[in-house]
This record gives sequence, C-alpha cells and structure tokens, in this order.
Amino acid sequence: MNRFRPKSARVLAAVAATLVLAGAAQAGEVEVLHYWTSGGEAKAAAALKATLQAKGHTWRDFAVAGGGGDSAMTVLKSRVVSGNAPAAAQIKGPSLQEWAAEGVLANIDDVAKAEKWDSLLPRQISDVMKYKGGYIAAPLNVHRVNWLYANPEVLKKAGAKVPATWDEFFATAEALKKAGVIPLAHGGQNWQDFTVFESVALGLGGVDFYRKALVQLDPAALNGATMEKVLATFRRIKGYTDKNAPGRDWNLATGMVVKGEAGMQLMGDWAKGEFVAAGKQPGKDFICVAAPGSAGAFTFNVDSLAMFKVKGDDKVKAQKDLAAAVMSPQFQETFNLNKGSIPVRLNMDLTKFDDCAKASAKDFAASAQGGTLVPSIAHGMAVPAAVEGAIKDVVSQFWNNDRMTPKEAMTRLAAAAKAS
Ligand code: BGC
Repeated sequence: MNRFRPKSARVLAAVAATLVLAGAAQAGEVEVLHYWTSGGEAKAAAALKATLQAKGHTWRDFAVAGGGGDSAMTVLKSRVVSGNAPAAAQIKGPSLQEWAAEGVLANIDDVAKAEKWDSLLPRQISDVMKYKGGYIAAPLNVHRVNWLYANPEVLKKAGAKVPATWDEFFATAEALKKAGVIPLAHGGQNWQDFTVFESVALGLGGVDFYRKALVQLDPAALNGATMEKVLATFRRIKGYTDKNAPGRDWNLATGMVVKGEAGMQLMGDWAKGEFVAAGKQPGKDFICVAAPGSAGAFTFNVDSLAMFKVKGDDKVKAQKDLAAAVMSPQFQETFNLNKGSIPVRLNMDLTKFDDCAKASAKDFAASAQGGTLVPSIAHGMAVPAAVEGAIKDVVSQFWNNDRMTPKEAMTRLAAAAKAS
C-alpha cells in the first residue's frame, strides 16, 4: 500500500493544481462605470461590488461623480472611442440601442436564457434591455421619478399640509416661506430643473399630455395651451427656491430637507436612499407622496448595466457572472433597499422594504395595468439622448432666464424635439 501513497499524493496534487489553475482562469476583473457617489448611492454600489467579489472576481471602480450621469456619459464616450471600454457601464433606456448599434456591446443572451429573464421581467422593460432580440444589458431596479419629499415637522410648524395638487403646493410653499424656511430644496443643474419640469407636466397636464408632448414629441402638444400653463407653473416654483440653488448637487438639496432647512424636494426616489442613509424613517422623519397632481401615474426610470465587448475568457466569465448576479433575488433586495428604488425582478418578497417602496411597487403595477405608466424623459427613458439633451437645455434656459416667455420657450421646445 505504502508504495502507492506517493503516487496518489502526486495525482491529488496534480488534480489540485489543475483546479487552482482552472479557478484562476475563471477569476476575472470587471471594470464598472457608474455615477453612484452620494451616501445612499455609494451603499448601493458597495452591494454591487460585494456581489461580484463573492463570485471570486475583482471589481475595478470607475465612478464619475455628477447626478443624472451626464459627466459619466461624456467620459464613457471618450473611453470607448479610444478603444478602452469598461466591462460594464450604467447606460439606460433608448441609449442602450444607440450603443448597441455602434457594435460595441456584448450579447449576454446565454445568461438571460439560463436565468429565465424573460419570465422575470415586465415585458416593457425586457424589451429595452435587448438589441435585435438579444440581451445586451442587465436591469437593476425601478426608480419612480414623480415623488415629492417633505419634512413633516417643518410643515407642522408652518401650519402647512402635504400638498396633493399644484394649488396646494403653492399654498404650502407660501406658508413655509412665511415661517422662514426655504419652501423647496432645489439644485440648479439642468437635469434637476428637468426632473421638476417633467413632474409639473405630468401633474398639471395629465398622462395623455405627458405622453403626447414628452414621449411622442407631438408639435401641437409641445406648442399648445397646456404646455404654456406647465411652463408658467414651473417658473412660479422657482420663486420658492433659495438663491444658493444654482449648481447645488441633488443630495445636498435632500440634506436640506433632512435637516429641516427646507420643507420639500421634488426628486426621484434615489433621494429616499439619502434619507435612509441619514438614518431617517419614512412616515416619521420624512414623508413621500406622489408629486402634486400625479397620484395615479408613475414615471419610471430603470437603471441598467450595459455589457461591453471584452477580451479574455476570464473577463467574459466575470462579466457574465456579474450580469447573472444582478438579477438574483438577494442582490435585488440589498441593492434596492439602499438605492431607494424597487426591485425590477417580478414577484419579489418586499417584507424588508419600507412604506415608500411598497407604495411604489403597488403604483407601478397599477399604473402598468391602467395605462398610466410613462417613461421619464429627464432620466433617459423616453426619447433619444440627443433630443433629450436639446429639450433639457431649453427647459433650463427658461428656468434661468426670467425674460424668456413661455411662448418663446414653446417654440424652442418644438425645434429641440427635432434634434437628432
Ligand atoms: C439615475 C440614478 C441616480 C440619479 C442621481 C438617475 O438618473 O437613474 O441611479 O441615482 O440619477 O444621480
């Protein structure tokens, strides 16, 4: 027996070495471009990193600060043009198709088929993740954009109520102003102006108007009486923001509501991630309600990771493992608890989620059923990037220039809608 030992030991050693080698060949690096740098966002990004590392892979962080992702997209373009694309990047909505058409994205259909993504995603979302029938991106969540956040203590002190309509919004804003607090926390950056604008368009104009004007880009809707009212209301809101708003980051604006320096903020539910990261509880320390006039509707914004073509079996394996992990129930739960959004994967257990998230999930399903689910134009969901950018610029020019009339802005909006 003894003389066999050395041999079997050698065999075992050889087998072990092969396994180690195989393991090494499988462990790869994934460079991920994102713009999740605020408190809540960073926690969510850390969950993504931990998920990848748990699979034995290495995470290379490619964070480009700047809410809404405009700076990140500029940096991404230059990296791709110079032939140095990251393995994954946070790209959303119609832009996914534009990147895929450039031939730079990888097909991850094998992962999607093995994990049965078609049956785990709402059709409206899985379609966006595909190019010519094959998956090119993995969805992370569903953010709702038409939210209003408020500090209940500040409202109480001012004798003001949480507004459900735009008339009520202005009554509350006036009461807050009289009480000496900033009524609306706002960051004057074009994507934040645009976020407020789309909520006014939805709440005042209604779902049909929103769809006609900001999804179908119908010239009559962009240039009609309802748009004029929307623009006038949007301008009126500016009077309830503070003089330091220009250039302020969105999370600093949320911080003002957290601290009671301001009463309200109109922002998507990544803002809820900030309240939660600051240790605040919904219903008690802060209130979340649908933006005025938009209770039955839902502007959706789905974050997704597009996969770029990478070289090397190890890198491809790591990239595919990341894609599979992103859709797993565990990841969908942890990521979204921190991010402020709800899972995109259907039939998830929401026990650990707070009332804002539960309301969001309920409204998401109801609005999908009732035809009031609309894509957010301010967050890359509704129209091609060039058109979005052109409309966003007009909205911000109008916000910043009190001499521009609503009529003038409307003519410019109709022209911007033709940008390509
Ligand atoms: C993205 C979110 C992000 C927010 C602020 C949105 O467009 O979808 O993931 O948290 O911008 O940067």
